Amino acid sequence: MNLFSKKITTWYQQNKRDLPWRKTKDAYLIWLSEIILQQTRVDQGMAYYLKFAKEFPTVKHLAKAENEKIMKLWQGLGYYSRARNLHTTAKIITDNYKGKFPDQYDDILLLKGVGEYTAAAIASFAFNQPHAVVDGNVYRVLSRVFGIETPIDSSQGKKEFYALANELIDKKDPAMHNQAIMEFGAIQCKPVSPDCSICPLSTMCFAYSKKRILELPVKSKKTKVRNRYFNYIVLNHKTSTAINKRTEKGIWINLYDFPLIETNEELNEEEFLRSQQWKSFIITTKYTVKSVSGGYKHILSHQKIYARFWEIDCKESFNKLLSKTCITIKKEDIHKYAVPRLIENYITRTT
Ligand code: ADE
Repeated sequence: MNLFSKKITTWYQQNKRDLPWRKTKDAYLIWLSEIILQQTRVDQGMAYYLKFAKEFPTVKHLAKAENEKIMKLWQGLGYYSRARNLHTTAKIITDNYKGKFPDQYDDILLLKGVGEYTAAAIASFAFNQPHAVVDGNVYRVLSRVFGIETPIDSSQGKKEFYALANELIDKKDPAMHNQAIMEFGAIQCKPVSPDCSICPLSTMCFAYSKKRILELPVKSKKTKVRNRYFNYIVLNHKTSTAINKRTEKGIWINLYDFPLIETNEELNEEEFLRSQQWKSFIITTKYTVKSVSGGYKHILSHQKIYARFWEIDCKESFNKLLSKTCITIKKEDIHKYAVPRLIENYITRTT
């Protein structure tokens, strides 16, 4: 066994989480767990795995189930094509393979919803075949330890990382090796702020010795940035205005902004006032547009927000327009509320 494999498997035996799918060699249950974990974190996926394993203890039980029942049990996990593929594949295994899960990597790879990572996971965990798993955790560990700077989202990178992973795999216990490297990436060699002072691989780690932990792995494509168009409605009536407490998950949770109309594109004044969204918001209230601000641009890691502030003088109380998360305040009190930087910029420019 090579030194890398020795170190990560020793670490794994001392640090591994107690996860139910690691206690079985049943390819069906391993497949089920891997499909659930494809786009889901372990702590969220666990309850679903236990539910499915209990309800459908074998692939035949799953094949026989009503599709609706499977979809209902999947509810909340997202990426519903996974559940549909699960059912289709269960039926194929029952009909074409007599209920026996295929035990060769190439056959496993042919199953719907199973890619190279999942096929290697099943082949190694269930059948102890030496196919290396390469997921996000593995890319990170290998790029850091061995100093590989080829972008992980390039075809060259994929080739290099797969070749190295398959060279390193312990042929005597590929199941443990694969679990160990993934667990090591998930728990020890974390994307940000890994605690290298307690890492058993630090003495052989390229990134640690060069102080380049956060530069590796390299990605060539930047994450896609979403453009959003916010039309903030600053309502005025006498001395009052309305603000909105953001209660949904996200970067601005529990901060205050103004009532918001989000549009799919940037609208000029005329287009906005003619839009159905504005008409539904303002209903029958009599108003005049006091001012329309210039564009404010707010850049976040995954989104660019283009905001415009519409100052609306209402001739009557605006309370009936407000959603449950809005409150009416005195205009001068707005400084007492915690607001995102974007809102703060607007307020300081206008007061
Ligand atoms: N994520 C995907 N597969 C996993 C596994 N077998 N154990 C822990 N996390 C995982």
